[in-house]
Amino acid sequence: MGEGRRHLVIVDDEPVILSLLSSMFDDDERVRVTACLNGTEALQAMASGIDLLLTDKNLPDVGGLELARRARDSHPDVQIIIITGYASLDTALAAMELDVFDYIVKPPRDIHDVRRKVHQALDKQQMGRENRRLMASLTQRNAELEAALAEIKEVQAELIQSEKLAGIGTLAAGIAHEISSPLFGVMGLAEAIVDEDDHELVRGYAKEIVDYSKSIKDIVVQLSGYSRTAETEYFTTVDLGKVIEDAAKLVARSLSFDPGRLRIEAAPALYVNARTSEIQQVFVNLIKNAVEAAVERHGRGEAGPAFAGEVVLAAGQHGDQHVWAEVRDNGSGIAADRIGAIFDPFYTTKPAGRGTGLGLNIVYRIVTKYRGQVTVDSEVGQGTTFSLRFPVDADGPESTDR
Ligand SMILES: Nc1ncnc2c1ncn2[C@@H]1O[C@H](COP(=O)(O)OP(=O)(O)OP(=O)(O)O)[C@@H](O)[C@H]1O
Ligand SMILES: [Mg+2]
Repeated sequence: MGEGRRHLVIVDDEPVILSLLSSMFDDDERVRVTACLNGTEALQAMASGIDLLLTDKNLPDVGGLELARRARDSHPDVQIIIITGYASLDTALAAMELDVFDYIVKPPRDIHDVRRKVHQALDKQQMGRENRRLMASLTQRNAELEAALAEIKEVQAELIQSEKLAGIGTLAAGIAHEISSPLFGVMGLAEAIVDEDDHELVRGYAKEIVDYSKSIKDIVVQLSGYSRTAETEYFTTVDLGKVIEDAAKLVARSLSFDPGRLRIEAAPALYVNARTSEIQQVFVNLIKNAVEAAVERHGRGEAGPAFAGEVVLAAGQHGDQHVWAEVRDNGSGIAADRIGAIFDPFYTTKPAGRGTGLGLNIVYRIVTKYRGQVTVDSEVGQGTTFSLRFPVDADGPESTDR
């Protein structure tokens, strides 16, 4: 560090000793010396800054320890070496309190010893300064990183919400179609009732209207479960089998995929402690990808045995350790050199307007938040399997944002 020469103030009321001590540093490149015969002179010399005070303990005006105290007050990182004829307990205690670096016993015999002690004190000071500099830059860097992290979290939360809303747009088209047929039935029956006198028939129509209405209600409930903002929802014991079933229906409906080609093989009574809407989001995204991959490879075809595209949703439990789930498709597959990128936000191979590239990133974020794992196994032209794992004993997510 190019700090220039350090200011060494030497104080001793015996002129011979003072000049002896000063002369030890005549050819020393590291220091510039101010020699003082008393405390008053020393205080003046310090006023312009001081790095090291080498002072006799007994001075006629201001005592050595008092001088040290004042040097320390005005220059907190000053190094202090006391010259003393003897070291009493009092001196030692006062010196300790002042964090005195070392002693030199009077009269100083060994020039090298004095110089060595001065250099050691200066080294210590320099190290302290460098540490503080590092600390300050680390603290600043840390604050910058924290600010950046907070910003990223905010942006991510916004993205998740907007992705969900965009998803709802896609789903809405399919759902409107799905709702329109029972609604058509309801309207037809209601008109028929108006012109019907047969009481029994009217009762039959009314019952059918109730059934149609129930199926409309189911669709609406599924959609509102998906669009709910996770923040406002409580943690519950999520029934995984039910969530998978709902997600499968939702995706099949919105992508017009034959539900018969979406096979569910879930063990009964699988529970994860989480927010239902988030777990549903995970499966909607994975199943949507699987269906899209299956359609990409096999074409949409006609529903029925001729169509080879297939998605299997399996789930189970390993002992009391964790619950697992798999989304398997026999779709286009993912090239080995792209697997590393699929969880990145905005990575997509789908045409503009069809994919945001956020689906898997959201899956990853939600699953890891619940201390779960997601892994992928894929072969081009064969298919892909996404595997999930959730700990059974999890009492909610890692973060405390309840
Ligand atoms: N089951 C799968 N089979 C083949 N490729 C997949 C599969 N799942 C994901 N991918 C690949 O990973 C990419 C990223 O998937 P992700 O779900 O994050 O975004 P996306 O599906 O492209 O867009 P969005 O989810 O917004 O519709 C996809 O574009 C696709 O290339
Ligand atoms: Mg996707």
